[in-house]
Amino acid sequence: MTIQPEIMLILARARNGVIGHQNKMPWHIPADLRHFKRLTINHPMIMGRQTFESLPGLLPDRPHIVLTHNMNWQAEGCEVAHNLDQAIEIALRYSSRIAIIGGAQIFKQSWSLADYIELTEIEKDYTGDTYVDLPDMSGFSLESQQDYDAESGQPAFCFKRFMKRKIMP
Ligand SMILES: NC(=O)c1ccc[n+]([C@@H]2O[C@H](COP(=O)([O-])OP(=O)(O)OC[C@H]3O[C@@H](n4cnc5c(N)ncnc54)[C@H](OP(=O)(O)O)[C@@H]3O)[C@@H](O)[C@H]2O)c1
Repeated sequence: MTIQPEIMLILARARNGVIGHQNKMPWHIPADLRHFKRLTINHPMIMGRQTFESLPGLLPDRPHIVLTHNMNWQAEGCEVAHNLDQAIEIALRYSSRIAIIGGAQIFKQSWSLADYIELTEIEKDYTGDTYVDLPDMSGFSLESQQDYDAESGQPAFCFKRFMKRKIMP
């Protein structure tokens, strides 16, 4: 029996589309880090090589699958894939629920694979060098939304979960 993956794309995006700057996240929002942890814990995460290199280290209890075209690239504690199909095949060895966590190059190639999009919308513009344009969202429905006000120097933000609309047979 073929296992069907359930794929979630997880991203945090500023009002002006920025998702990264100098290979870092341009903001520090602890609630978003906790949200990311809740979504990914015990599930394999697929990421681009640059996102992997932006992490402070391996995140515990989540297999890391890193995409690179470089056949010689390796890093301790992660598995390497050279295309998205291969990355998903590796991820399925761990769980059918798979997180694709960026960065921009990887999101651009994976919108059509997403069963869910877990989007953190940050209600502020940021300076950055990495942007993401959201795809046409008409194929998705908004399943849940949690809003948080700005406080103690942090911008307002919200968590939105979009689910791919099922096409009736
Ligand atoms: N806000 C967010 O939610 C979020 C999430 C993740 C990352 N980020 C930010 O985004 C930035 C990084 O994003 P990025 O777009 O520059 O890089 P990226 O998507 O993380 O990684 C790009 C690299 O992935 C590899 N790659 C891409 N497509 C591939 C494919 N089809 N097959 C095999 N390998 C492939 C290539 O590695 P090689 O060059 O080794 O071949 C490429 O250089 C950082 O600033 C990071 O902090 C933000």
